[in-house]
Amino acid sequence: MSTRRKFLQTSFLGSIGLFSGKKIMAQSDADYPTIKNEPIVLSTWDFGKAANTEAWTILGKGGRALDAVEAGVKIPEADPNNQSVGYGGLPDRDGHVTLDACIMDEYYNCGSVMGLENIIHAISVARLVMEKTPHVVLIGEGAFQFALANGFKKENLLTPESEKAWKEWLKTSKYEPIMNIENKLHKPASGGDMPGGPNNHDTIGMIAMDASGNCSGACTTSGMAFKMRGRVGDSPIIGAGLYVDNEVGAATSTGVGEEVIRIVGSHLVVELMRQGLEPEAACKKAVERIISRNPEKAKKVQVGFLALNKKGQYGGYALQPGFTFAVKSGKEERIIKAKSIY
Ligand code: GLY
Repeated sequence: MSTRRKFLQTSFLGSIGLFSGKKIMAQSDADYPTIKNEPIVLSTWDFGKAANTEAWTILGKGGRALDAVEAGVKIPEADPNNQSVGYGGLPDRDGHVTLDACIMDEYYNCGSVMGLENIIHAISVARLVMEKTPHVVLIGEGAFQFALANGFKKENLLTPESEKAWKEWLKTSKYEPIMNIENKLHKPASGGDMPGGPNNHDTIGMIAMDASGNCSGACTTSGMAFKMRGRVGDSPIIGAGLYVDNEVGAATSTGVGEEVIRIVGSHLVVELMRQGLEPEAACKKAVERIISRNPEKAKKVQVGFLALNKKGQYGGYALQPGFTFAVKSGKEERIIKAKSIY
């Protein structure tokens, strides 16, 4: 009997207890390998590979998933060439780089910052909100002052490249949030050859399970390029851009945040896994929920979900082609092109 078949059998038996006798609703058509009792980390998009490598320096040594996801997403946050996250992120329509981030651990603890300016590592501020305050969310100036009070350095996040892209955008000021459908985000934002123009953007969402079998997740972004001042997407909203339930697994999202918020996407994916769906099937169902809400709009935007369950199974699904995710474990390291509806 193949290892995978054996695993599916034992998973099924195990799930009888895990899901308190609930019927297994469906089996996914996922063809990704499963990894059991081993640490694993997953991140949205190709740039998740470098983030996973960093996370693995912690996970591979038996460290906590929470520490791994924070360290992992700090890589794109500090990368000036990544114009969708952290330093070098594309600004809002008024030229301000504003960051959104959230983090969640294995005990339902969570922290979030929204509209944070002049601090590179929004994810670390989110973690401090979780660990040092009685709150879950801090926004704008309050989040910034909290960061300064905790030793973070004030920095200009607007790089010359992103400023140039913004000034180019100002010439037309066309506000059309068409998202990263072919994953060409890393072309120069001012280059004008990205599908949908320079309004494409994306997020890093990272979810991980450590050697103790505990899950955590982190999600961080500079949000929609040239967004209205004050606009917040799904990424810092617990349940939308990220959700972790250590009984079930974790999920994160990328793409047009408004569409994810409307269905509380990541929480939905986790709840679908709780009901017995494997990760890819749960992500697909969440994507279908977006379509059922507004089929015409769904054809024009991108949303992708990525999920991991407690058995180490993982999967992703998107509205449009082009959504990729990166996986790293002791057994594999690769980038996978997710299936899509369209
Ligand atoms: N998914 C990130 C955003 O909509 O801001």
